[in-house]
Amino acid sequence: MIKRLILAVLLAGTSIVGNAQNKISAKDIADKMKWFEDAKLGIFIHAGIYSVADVSESWSFHNGNISVEDYMKQQKGYTLSKYDPAAWAEMIKDCGARYCVITTKHHDGVAMYDTKLGKLSSVKTCAAKKDMIKPLFAELRKRDVKCGAYFSLIDWTHDDYPGFLKEKARYDIKKEPARWERFQKFFQGQIKEISDWYNPDLWWFDGDWEHSAEEWQAEKTRKMMLDRNPNTIINGRLQGYGDYDTPEQNFPVVRPAFKWWELCMTMNENWGYRVSDNNWKTPYEIITIFVDAVSNGGNLLLDIGPKPDGTYPDTVVSTLKELGDWNKRNGEGIFGTIPGIPQGHFYGPTTLSKDSKTLYLFVHGKTSGQVMLKGLDNKIKDITVLGSNVKLTHKVVGKISWSAVPGLVYIDLPETAVDKYVTCIKVTLDAPIKLYRGQGGFLTN
Ligand code: GLC
Repeated sequence: MIKRLILAVLLAGTSIVGNAQNKISAKDIADKMKWFEDAKLGIFIHAGIYSVADVSESWSFHNGNISVEDYMKQQKGYTLSKYDPAAWAEMIKDCGARYCVITTKHHDGVAMYDTKLGKLSSVKTCAAKKDMIKPLFAELRKRDVKCGAYFSLIDWTHDDYPGFLKEKARYDIKKEPARWERFQKFFQGQIKEISDWYNPDLWWFDGDWEHSAEEWQAEKTRKMMLDRNPNTIINGRLQGYGDYDTPEQNFPVVRPAFKWWELCMTMNENWGYRVSDNNWKTPYEIITIFVDAVSNGGNLLLDIGPKPDGTYPDTVVSTLKELGDWNKRNGEGIFGTIPGIPQGHFYGPTTLSKDSKTLYLFVHGKTSGQVMLKGLDNKIKDITVLGSNVKLTHKVVGKISWSAVPGLVYIDLPETAVDKYVTCIKVTLDAPIKLYRGQGGFLTN
């Protein structure tokens, strides 16, 4: 996948966007990113007609797995007859997510809102005859959950979009520039509609790889959104004009270089609902992945797909419930924290409170026994387990009185105190964390 440059990081410290009315500085960007930085968990919703016939979202017709005609017939089965935006918002809030991103339009061009510009929408051409976005955003906002609009730049069913099927493009923009200009006006018009009607807190673009920044008029497009809402956040799929990076289904092993990033990941194997896809990630797997992302300074955007009637598979509901319960027990170590200490000090993920006076250690699975912490150059005031609030004892091993090298901290974690998924140990320190990072030995200090 194309390496996406993050404008905010590249130009940190200087003016980012040459906006005639309001120059947006790196500080403004940092300010508007604050809620995102603290949010840690978002729910991604791929809602679309692809849920009807057990096919993949948009790619299925693009790649020739189903004819365009049959793919489009799914509109008739997309009823949303049981769509309950309040219940969706409740489920999302309850799992601990602080934001939600929903597809306003996927690569197939079928808008999930009442676009006046496109021919295809959940309101006009689907059985549902419903705008999905408006009521969902209203319900989310009632519950203080931020609202994100996924928007596909690619529109494979639009007559003026050059790409169509994998093996068959419509036209070449160099040969028909006026046609491409029409498309530019169209997609920017849809962005304006979504901005003006729903005012997203976050834009989640997709499909930028099919054209360059110049072709998408990315700078102008970014300005258009920020002129309407200077605080809106833009993901990193706008050819270099986004605010944060979006690794997809791939797990960073080393801490990503970008200041802001979000791992987007499906709960099973598909973005949209597919009746045949039962390869669900377990609550344990999702929680460990979530903790790993947060400990490395990222967010998790966990994707779910509704059925054509607007309900969710039972596994989605039960997994989100488990995640929510875990967050209720352990959220203090997650939300509003900063990335943890470098690897090597503790064999597991960690986070820190913003003042760095509290260290949170995450222990996977049902592990109990002695947990070891290396190179901690602080006094420990108190150790407890989140959720159960059990107080833990510890001892310091191997501290040499005349050496600057701290001893090893062994914390006793009894079986009775462990969480069923991931245990979070809260270590309260005397002062902001200080770590010894040397190689040990006599001469070290
Ligand atoms: C990809 C796919 C798309 C999916 C998205 C979510 O880029 O094109 O189908 O919606 O990722 O991250």
